[in-house]
Amino acid sequence: MSKLNIVILAAGLGKRMNSALPKVLHPLAGKALLAHVLDAARALSPQGICIVYGHGGEAVPQAIDDKSLTWAQQVPQLGTGHAVKQALPHLDEHGMTIILYGDVPLTGVETLKRLISAAGEKTIGLLTVELADPSGYGRIVRDGETGEVVAIVEEKDATTVQRQIHEINTGIMVIPNRYLHGWLHKLENNNAQKEYYLTDIIAMAVKDGVSIKVAQPAHAWETVGVNSKTQLAALERVYQHQFATKLLEQGVTLADPARIDIRGQLVCGRDVEIDINCIFEGDVHLDDGVKVGAHCILKNVKIAAGSAIAPFSLIEAAEIGKNCRVGPYARIRPGTKLAHDVHVGNFVEVKNSAIAAGSKANHLSYIGDAVIGKNVNIGAGTITCNYDGANKYQTIIEDDVFVGSDTQLIAPVTVAQGSTIGAGSTITKNTPPHKLSLSRARQLSIEGWQRPVKKPKGEK
Ligand code: UD1
Ligand code: MG
Repeated sequence: MSKLNIVILAAGLGKRMNSALPKVLHPLAGKALLAHVLDAARALSPQGICIVYGHGGEAVPQAIDDKSLTWAQQVPQLGTGHAVKQALPHLDEHGMTIILYGDVPLTGVETLKRLISAAGEKTIGLLTVELADPSGYGRIVRDGETGEVVAIVEEKDATTVQRQIHEINTGIMVIPNRYLHGWLHKLENNNAQKEYYLTDIIAMAVKDGVSIKVAQPAHAWETVGVNSKTQLAALERVYQHQFATKLLEQGVTLADPARIDIRGQLVCGRDVEIDINCIFEGDVHLDDGVKVGAHCILKNVKIAAGSAIAPFSLIEAAEIGKNCRVGPYARIRPGTKLAHDVHVGNFVEVKNSAIAAGSKANHLSYIGDAVIGKNVNIGAGTITCNYDGANKYQTIIEDDVFVGSDTQLIAPVTVAQGSTIGAGSTITKNTPPHKLSLSRARQLSIEGWQRPVKKPKGEK
């Protein structure tokens, strides 16, 4: 195959998004539209990728951090032909250029490869699709006798007869570089929109004896662009449906494939079960037999085999070992590592802490900056007081400790192996091993004490 250049058009205004954010930076599945296009572009192993930007100024290049890209500014935006012209200095003399759109995020790599193999040194590859409702799109005009493509006509310039054509231009095409320069310089803007249309090169190519070969996408949604929030939401559903279908085919049980959102990568082992309305962000790994209850949010998390996350739990940047029980309503924050058979129950927050095998914190606790040993029981309402208002300190709880309910552990502090902490204690000093430590006022009962009574209304 000859050298491949890629031009991504991303200079358009995106007026109908009604947003300050440039259109191509709006996220689909948690990632900018343009980043989706770039992923497909990179998968084609091109010579170079040039992005044409304009509207939104430097916000677009600033948001996409990739030194291997080249950027061509298009100000003002005078049409798709004018846009590609700005990229010319970045293209090779020979080889081919594929034109992609920054607002068409879901084009499959397989579809693009098919289109590229249809094109050649003397052949344009054109990605077309038949639409029941072709309105708004450029129509593919074919020769009445040979059936060959002879031109693309924009809807606003089309005759009534041409508007009946259902085969439309997706905009994605592969053009031999040695003709591109000449054709782009010949473009004129004497059309309904006073724009330099890239599509006009088709008729020029036919004149120059360059043939036009078409390819179709595997699915029509691969070529759908985003112009409004409504279209963005529709494509988001397409993406999520595709991902959910892939998971089902791999053997993952989804309570409802229409109620799962994956904004990144989700890798699942065998017999994983996911209940409704869970969100997966970043890189999430669920090993064999993991169960995720309804309404959980998991971001950059690894969960080992056999663990169950009960409903309404939020886990971020953490590692959960085998056969753990987390939630319901647990919040596991970054830097947390649970070994195997750990239980973290409802309304428990764990941050930047390691909890060793078999330990439990089942109710209403805050565990922050702590190292907790094996077979520890953290009673309800236990708080590690890790912050003095300026600095953070560590709490160490050794193996086989029992912490009674409503205990405050004032860090830095170490609770030694086998200690028992009496409920309601404020522990400020290290405890000795295997002893009961407690800090609590002695219980009193006051003789003759009277409960206050309510005064009649009006009396002071
Ligand atoms: C274009 C095609 C039309 C096709 C349709 C598919 C032309 C003349 N028409 O029409 O045949 O059916 O796409 O969606 O090519 N852009 C720039 N700079 C510009 C103008 C556009 O970068 O000056 C970018 C836009 O950001 C967008 C893409 O090019 O990503 C297409 O532009 P748009 O204005 O949507 O073209 P259409 O009129 O829809
Ligand atoms: Mg458009």
